[in-house]
Amino acid sequence: MTRLPATGPNAEQIAYWNDTAGPKWVAMQESLDRQIGPLGRVAMDAAGLSPGERVLDVGCGCGATSLEIARRVGPGGSVLGIDVSNVMLDAARAAGEGDGTPGLEFANADAQTAPLAPGSFDVAFSRFGVMFFADPAAAFANLRRALRPGGRLAFVCWQGLASNPWMALPLSAALRHMPPPVPPAPDAPGPFAFADPERVRRILEGAGFAGVSLASHDTDIAVGGGRDLDGTVDFLLQMGPLAAALRESDPALRGRVADAVREAVSPHADGTGGVRLASATWIVTAHAP
Ligand SMILES: C[S@@+](CC[C@H](N)C(=O)[O-])C[C@H]1O[C@@H](n2cnc3c(N)ncnc32)[C@H](O)[C@@H]1O
Repeated sequence: MTRLPATGPNAEQIAYWNDTAGPKWVAMQESLDRQIGPLGRVAMDAAGLSPGERVLDVGCGCGATSLEIARRVGPGGSVLGIDVSNVMLDAARAAGEGDGTPGLEFANADAQTAPLAPGSFDVAFSRFGVMFFADPAAAFANLRRALRPGGRLAFVCWQGLASNPWMALPLSAALRHMPPPVPPAPDAPGPFAFADPERVRRILEGAGFAGVSLASHDTDIAVGGGRDLDGTVDFLLQMGPLAAALRESDPALRGRVADAVREAVSPHADGTGGVRLASATWIVTAHAP
């Protein structure tokens, strides 16, 4: 299998998703799938998949959504999961082989630059895999060209940090004990790159999509997929904005930060051992004219 080199416009993200974030996503895959699975399903429902359709799963990661799409489109349909992270795709391929689903393939490719055959998909879908492009206008133009006329785009992305207490609450508790992280450049690739709905609309319309719609989806989620309190704290120290801030600070602060995060999230224990906190995402849909 050809491995995508860490070169080109998304070189930094390719390195990041192979060397830093990818191995963590593989290790935490079950927790992550339980945490964000319900959000992905809302976007998948919005895609309105039918049996026999050809679907591109953009930034498919460890492949849970690709497998679910394959089940929805059935044996007459097909799914191509693409991702820059070879380590995450290894997990996806293993899951795909274990599942024995027909019509399911994975490719180590950059959605912004991959030479996708024009008009070859009915639907382009993504669960949190489209906010990391250096040039989102170019990436979405590439995805639009890969859709047949009338083909659909559907994805879920995060709204801003302040609208996502599941990330903001532990981060602000931690910041009482550590220096704030260097803020990212405005519109820099990252989890909040599509927080501004007007920016998303501009990018998609500029890329040639029509009928762009952003529906706000606000719901409590099981942080870390329903781990117990210690497991939830461990999850939050390893994934998301708090983990990114922690990577930049003195490792000696970790114990104090963990205690502060535990104190902040424990009032949100859901009575079954897990922690539930509010999230806000955009469910974005559009079509290729
Ligand atoms: C937040 S993770 C989501 C993974 C997966 N969709 C899920 O929900 O479990 C973002 C994914 O986007 C991928 N990604 C980032 N930039 C990409 C690009 N330019 N082309 C394809 N995939 C990309 C990452 O490697 C990573 O797997």
